[in-house]
Amino acid sequence: MSKTRKILVTSALPYANGSIHLGHMVEYIQTDIWVRFQQLRGHKCTYVCADDAHGTAIMLKAEQNGISAEEQIANVKAEHEQDFADFLINFDNFHSTHSEENRELSELIYQRLKANGHIANREITQAFDPEKNLFLADRYIKGNCPKCKSPDQYGDNCEVCGATYAPMDLINPVSVVSGSTPIEKASEHFFFKLPEFTAFLKEWTRAGHLQDEIANKLAEWLDSGLQEWDISRDAPYFGFEIPGEKDKYFYVWLDAPVGYIASFKNLCARTNENWEDYWLADKAKEHDTELYHFIGKDIVNFHALFWPAMLSSAEFRTPTAVNVHGFLTVNGKKMSKSRGTFINARSYLNNIHPEYLRYYFASKLNNSVSDLDLNLEDFIQKVNADLVGKVINIASRTAKFVAKAGGELSSNIADDALWQKFLDADSVIAQYYEEREFAKAMREIMALADAANEYIAAKEPWALAKDPANAQTVLDICSLGINMFRVIMTYLKPVLPELATKAEAFLNETLSWQSSPSYLGAHNINKFKPLLTRLEQEQIDTMMEDNKAAIEAATENKVTGPLADDPISDEIKFDDFAKVDLRIALIVKAEHVEGADKLLRLTLDIGDSKTRNVFAGIKSAYKPEDLEGRHTVMVANLAPRKMKFGMSEGMVLAAGPGGNELYILSPDDDAKPGMRVK
Ligand code: MSP
Ligand code: ZN
Repeated sequence: MSKTRKILVTSALPYANGSIHLGHMVEYIQTDIWVRFQQLRGHKCTYVCADDAHGTAIMLKAEQNGISAEEQIANVKAEHEQDFADFLINFDNFHSTHSEENRELSELIYQRLKANGHIANREITQAFDPEKNLFLADRYIKGNCPKCKSPDQYGDNCEVCGATYAPMDLINPVSVVSGSTPIEKASEHFFFKLPEFTAFLKEWTRAGHLQDEIANKLAEWLDSGLQEWDISRDAPYFGFEIPGEKDKYFYVWLDAPVGYIASFKNLCARTNENWEDYWLADKAKEHDTELYHFIGKDIVNFHALFWPAMLSSAEFRTPTAVNVHGFLTVNGKKMSKSRGTFINARSYLNNIHPEYLRYYFASKLNNSVSDLDLNLEDFIQKVNADLVGKVINIASRTAKFVAKAGGELSSNIADDALWQKFLDADSVIAQYYEEREFAKAMREIMALADAANEYIAAKEPWALAKDPANAQTVLDICSLGINMFRVIMTYLKPVLPELATKAEAFLNETLSWQSSPSYLGAHNINKFKPLLTRLEQEQIDTMMEDNKAAIEAATENKVTGPLADDPISDEIKFDDFAKVDLRIALIVKAEHVEGADKLLRLTLDIGDSKTRNVFAGIKSAYKPEDLEGRHTVMVANLAPRKMKFGMSEGMVLAAGPGGNELYILSPDDDAKPGMRVK
């Protein structure tokens, strides 16, 4: 085996203002598989990550939730960590960018950039929310497109006609945060002088650290000229204050990648390693350490331009490689909340085993930047066919014959050529893993599984076993079967760690891949237990239902004020209003309606000769017994409507954003049934 490599690996740091979804999981699963592969090969491979905790979005989110930013990021961190653990993502450390290590390192790097003359400062004018006293990023301003006049467009470009513009060019610009009209305001900003790194970056982006398609894309930017990068934000901001300045903060993207270093440094305090060996230019060279960042294609400029430039100025090492992946689509379409295809990690985990997705992504991933699709039908078909139908099948068809023979594997290799095939595949599959060509690796492994199944089917040990004279032959065949299963599980161990652990219990051995597999004979194995069950359509269905509910709940929580998502309706004339006869009503009776999940049946008295029967969609908010005897307001002259459960003779008034949050209107105590509401 070649020398032991010292490798540090990162995945991008997820934002602390939202939940993990399956798109994110492409990245964490891809990285985790690569890390586990390196470890299985005997290398020292460390995997760190953190939450990306800073920025305006997180500050506003905390405000909406009525908690401090610190509480907000602590809650989300706990949720993220659980999601990752349940997807078997094996971080050595999961830290936060809002940490002391990160503050110190960000300051250190900034000071070095500044000392090197790579920081500029000047005044710029930006949109400002005069009510919130907040400078507004483009996405916090909406208005009518200056070109095509489409309403409700963001401050940077129009989704309707594609025009790009400055936020203050919008017609009737509005601050999304407060609803006020933004003004222009000047303030001093700090800039990283990126253009000074043009020559360095032209060289670095072509030096084998990036996929070709990425290097080509960057060459276009490099040729058209780099801009200075604005790295400061004004207070109020949730982040680190810039040393030596007042009310100026590092822009979140300045300290976010430094979070990689901070997480590793935080880990080193426990492992007694020296973080500098992996991060300082001279030490990294001396210790021959490698550094890999795994990221999505949307954040390439931060990792392949700004970051290497910052690192080199600060005399830190630059990455060995930045590995970029494409985006996840679901059933061939871009993930979307309204289509319900933003599948939350938790909705998945509540219903489906994590290793199915790990395998499915592995079977689709390569080292290109192209998008990959989660087709839910194909997902079921593929994991059942490959994992249950092919891989597990090898063991389940042969284990019982080994058990019958006493549980000890035979050392006779029943088919040398076939076994040789399994050994030959070793270096090819390892190479594919190394190059992040997981789809190709999975294809090789499944071809081995096919060969194993064909062999067993042709030999029919179950038929041979009927004649006791064949006992040794049957044991030899099935021992080869178990050995083939064992090699396949070794090759799959980076993808399916939990299944591998179960297989290890069965095989009575730890699967390692530091060298070519040997034949396991004269070795006792344990009783075979079913290792995986089939994935059923029903699980997918409940996952999608779960997810829909989760998305709805999250959107409800998002409301910043009742009017944010529910603007005032078009004007009406007084006469229109006067037609509505509103009366105080006594709720005489309130009852459940059989078969209705939202409705209650109310019997209302407005002080005339008859009571009225009204169906109201308030079941989620009220128990019937709590309503009886209360006064409320009803529309008394609404034409009766035939509903599924009977006639509804009016309407009661309730307020709320929808869902469980609903409040029926109540008059003061002295209002009597029948009084007109005007
Ligand atoms: N906080 C930044 C990263 C800072 S790294 C110093 C960020 N966070 S993110 O939560 O938006 O995304 C985290 C990672 O998930 C990114 O690499 C991003 O590309 C990836 N993905 C987010 N949605 C994705 C898909 N739909 N498909 C595949 N990857 C996706 O960006
Ligand atoms: Zn437009």
